[in-house]
Amino acid sequence: MKRQVIAAAAALALPFAAGAGPDDDTLVVNDEIEMVTKAAAPEHLSDVMDEIMSGWHFRSDETQALQMDDFENPAMVFVDQALETWETVEGSKGKSCAACHGDVEESMAGVRAVYPKWNETAGEVRTLNMQINDCRETQMGAEPWKYTGGKMAAMEALISVQSRGLPVNVAIDGPAQSVWEKGREMYYTRTGQLELSCANCHEDNYGNMIRADHLSQGQINGFPVYRLKNTKLNTAHARFKGCVRDTRAETYAPGSEEFVALELYVASRGNGLSVEAPSVRN
Ligand code: HEC
Ligand code: HEC
Repeated sequence: MKRQVIAAAAALALPFAAGAGPDDDTLVVNDEIEMVTKAAAPEHLSDVMDEIMSGWHFRSDETQALQMDDFENPAMVFVDQALETWETVEGSKGKSCAACHGDVEESMAGVRAVYPKWNETAGEVRTLNMQINDCRETQMGAEPWKYTGGKMAAMEALISVQSRGLPVNVAIDGPAQSVWEKGREMYYTRTGQLELSCANCHEDNYGNMIRADHLSQGQINGFPVYRLKNTKLNTAHARFKGCVRDTRAETYAPGSEEFVALELYVASRGNGLSVEAPSVRN
């Protein structure tokens, strides 16, 4: 399978080349939080792979080091900013996040690990970003944040930090199942002029090189991600958009039903890896 895809890509002059594969380093953050960065693939992937791996294993030693210490991690500035936002009153109801949720460390512990998640009252699968904007609009009477914007990414990072080291554990059964299936369908559908699916790059070719980049499994346990390339926090949907564009296909909007389904599916491919956010990438 792998060889076939490389051959097809070569025919399209897409430069997949053999790479060094994932490394065997160990990720411990602040000499304290031991991350599970390799784990047995979840049951639903057992036909296609044995092991799942964090994108951290595919980055250079220098980039990896930035994620091992919060004083070095450029994303932590945004986490601090979000902590201020957490305590800031906004909107017509005169509330801050803290007014209802109290201490973020307590109230948001473990939350990131189970999102996207089915919301019974709303009757929909919600990403963390959707839930945050719902609280802003419904609970605070405030304007929603731009889905992939700086304020949103920072709040997502602050909430995610409260789950660091816990295993990703999104539910894919029950009422979320049909959404998950839609996400899976998208993951395996070839799109664009290059006729490549997510799986062609992130399942069939992880460990290989494409152009100058070392391909990972495209996991989202580290999102939002600080990228050295654009020196800001990047949400998963912004990354999906970039990847779809790279196949020269029309892309969906961040926050769209399609990307929500894709996020649930991609998150579930990482069930068992530690929540690493905010991680650092090139
Ligand atoms: C007026 C009270 C109120 C305010 C203010 C508020 N929330 Fe909420 N929040 C809630 C309620 C109630 C829920 C549960 C909603 C549900 O399950 O449908 C909730 C749920 C959440 C959840 C999901 C928790 C989980 O376990 O799934 C997150 C994340 C969250 N809020 C973040 C925020 C953030 C960030 C802010 C500030 C921007 C905020 N909230 C402001 C009342 C509030
Ligand atoms: C043409 C090959 C290609 C395709 C197709 C592709 N990607 Fe990517 N993707 C990349 C490259 C290159 C990177 C950067 C290196 C890396 O982390 O793998 C990347 C990175 C990512 C990352 C960041 C991983 C991390 O740990 O930071 C995610 C998530 C991702 N892709 C998801 C997707 C999804 C979902 C799809 C399908 C909609 C997709 N990609 C399709 C090439 C591709």
